[in-house]
Amino acid sequence: MTPEPPQEAFHDLLRGMAALSGNRVVADIARLYGKGAPPDLSIACNHKQIASKQWLVEALAETYPKPAGPVWVLGAWYGVLGALLLDDARLAIPGIVSLDIDPTCAPIGEILNHRHVQAGRFRAMTADMMAMDFAAQSPAPGLVINTSCEHLDDVPGWLATLPKGLPLVLQSNDYFREPDHRSCVPSLDAFREQAGLSEVWFAGARPTKNYTRFMLIGRR
Ligand SMILES: C[S@@+](CC[C@H](N)C(=O)[O-])C[C@H]1O[C@@H](n2cnc3c(N)ncnc32)[C@H](O)[C@@H]1O
Repeated sequence: MTPEPPQEAFHDLLRGMAALSGNRVVADIARLYGKGAPPDLSIACNHKQIASKQWLVEALAETYPKPAGPVWVLGAWYGVLGALLLDDARLAIPGIVSLDIDPTCAPIGEILNHRHVQAGRFRAMTADMMAMDFAAQSPAPGLVINTSCEHLDDVPGWLATLPKGLPLVLQSNDYFREPDHRSCVPSLDAFREQAGLSEVWFAGARPTKNYTRFMLIGRR
């Protein structure tokens, strides 16, 4: 038998896994492969990426499950975190805005989250998070999530642009070797210091094979 090209093989395999597990996010990722996914979608959905997003969903369910307004996910890549957040019955999220500076991300995120786009609970946008004015947004954001802090040139400078008291979830890591990483931190304490939150409801470190990921939940 001739092997299938990778996209078709992923599509078939994921449709099978969706049927087996009944998981709606897997079904949506399978559907995306059927429509032509970018080559790095498999990286955005690999076990390490999913584990770090599940860690976030678990911690959020424990600490802040009912944000009072839309949840903004910054540096959101293909919108996988938005899909996981909207799929979790423990969270009451009015809607998600999934923002990335890379213009190829928004269309993919909206295909992945097509059910939520139709329900008016998900939209994707292309913008530089450093240039956003969150105080001017209406409705006001209920929570801002940034799992890409390590990609910013100036994390304290970005945090200074946010309204005081805004609930935040931040992730970073100590993967200094990765060329795209500009603001890695060597430890959880260093991340706490870099973020300078006024309240911290959760602080954790999650070691993986090549690096440790850090997460903070609290208020600016
Ligand atoms: C590799 S991805 C995600 C990495 C992150 N650790 C995660 O797991 O979510 C980093 C994303 O941040 C985006 N990004 C980097 N700088 C940004 C900025 N200033 N504004 C918005 N998005 C940005 C990139 O385009 C990319 O899609």
